[in-house]
Amino acid sequence: MSKLKSKTVYLCSACGDDHPKWYGQCPSCNEWGTLGEYKVAKNRKKGGNGQPRDSRKLADVLHGGEVNRIPTGISEMDRVLGGGLLPGSLILLGGNPGIGKSTLALQILPAIQKPVLYVSAEESEDQVGLRARRLGVNSKTLHLSSENRIEGILDQISLVQSELVVVDSIQTVFSDELDSLPGSVSQIRECGQQLLQLSKQRNIAVIIVGHVTKEGIIAGPKMLEHMVDTVLYLEGDDRHDHRVLRSAKNRFGTTNEVGIFQMEAGGLVEVDNPSELFLAERQDDITGSTIFPSLEGSRPILVEVQALVSNANFGTPQRNVNGFDFKRLAMLLAVLEKRLGTHMGTKDVFVNLVGGLKVDDPAADLAVITAVASGARDKLISESVVLIGEVGLGGEVRSVSRLDARISEAKSLGFKSVIAPAANVKRMKKAPKGIKIFGVSNVGEAFQHLF
Ligand SMILES: Nc1ncnc2c1ncn2[C@@H]1O[C@H](COP(=O)(O)OP(=O)(O)O)[C@@H](O)[C@H]1O
Ligand SMILES: [Mg+2]
Repeated sequence: MSKLKSKTVYLCSACGDDHPKWYGQCPSCNEWGTLGEYKVAKNRKKGGNGQPRDSRKLADVLHGGEVNRIPTGISEMDRVLGGGLLPGSLILLGGNPGIGKSTLALQILPAIQKPVLYVSAEESEDQVGLRARRLGVNSKTLHLSSENRIEGILDQISLVQSELVVVDSIQTVFSDELDSLPGSVSQIRECGQQLLQLSKQRNIAVIIVGHVTKEGIIAGPKMLEHMVDTVLYLEGDDRHDHRVLRSAKNRFGTTNEVGIFQMEAGGLVEVDNPSELFLAERQDDITGSTIFPSLEGSRPILVEVQALVSNANFGTPQRNVNGFDFKRLAMLLAVLEKRLGTHMGTKDVFVNLVGGLKVDDPAADLAVITAVASGARDKLISESVVLIGEVGLGGEVRSVSRLDARISEAKSLGFKSVIAPAANVKRMKKAPKGIKIFGVSNVGEAFQHLF
């Protein structure tokens, strides 16, 4: 293979764009201090062999056969992907080190009855073998390789004729043509680009595993997000066994879809009923606790909101929040103070979404504000009610998406009543049986029902 010459460019660690000269501020994404000097391969041909490609008529592709997605054998994973792996797609599987990315990647492979290549640039084949034994993974079509040169990986793929490739992880793979270290922005971009070309040319699915670290959150996988078709993040924290697989981007399915798993000795186990998991240790005799059906992707999951309100011992009261937006909590506290006359200025407020789930659904507002009010007033909220609604600055309760799905999840777990936005309730065609629905147009009305 002829050695290609390299040239110097200035790559942005935030957006991955390259520039011929150095700037203090990236001209593409306006981030400051992100450009660094890198050598990249010269003469890299953009479109394969340099020949212009033929265009095709829409009519010709419209009636092409349905693409067959490849099921992974793990239904939570398939749902998050939008119905299985799509041939020709590039998928990024990101997450903190140790969260279970390699475990998940290995567990989905045996179901695929086609040649599969698992490139473990991080671990030796024997180490992967050990893990496979622990996970009970066995497959006749699975090939392991600990190659870490991208050129070697591409050769292996041709050799094995694999239809699915896992590269674990992109931070340990490098190209001979660059003289920067594996894991650097230029290497990640170069290798990502080569894998992208390969997946489109050969019509194979490629899963790129990428570590996300607190400091390097932008430099690595974030840059790849623009390049790939689907971005999956495996989340969770050290204190809990459950893991949440979330699609942050999906060209071939809905985004923000989640799959819930439990990490066990034998690997990741799917959780069929996440609401039950999140409510398992609920105590119904404490103040400051409410239940909220959060919409995670297309699926409602019941989450408990806990709030603790106590007198502040020091000058500035503390606000601490887990799983919910800090600024949103500050806004809700201001609404509670101004519109509902509950004095919060000298109180410490702690809010926790139980189970480590992170919710950015505005429909959680009513449950959060009610939990805080219940804590502040020391009054219990009935354990059989769920609360749904976005709260506006005027204390009004605004409508939310997919109320019916949220209500049916609450009903299936035995809840007896729902407090929901009046505007939503008015639009409902048929009231569901077996659960009472109270429409409220402001937080005050909700409190009248509850306190
Ligand atoms: N013998 C074991 N029993 C139970 N869990 C294990 C065992 N070995 C590893 N794990 C779990 O697997 C995790 C590591 O998973 P791994 O897939 O290697 O993570 P990643 O690839 O994201 O760095 C550990 O944090 C631990 O939770
Ligand atoms: Mg790993």
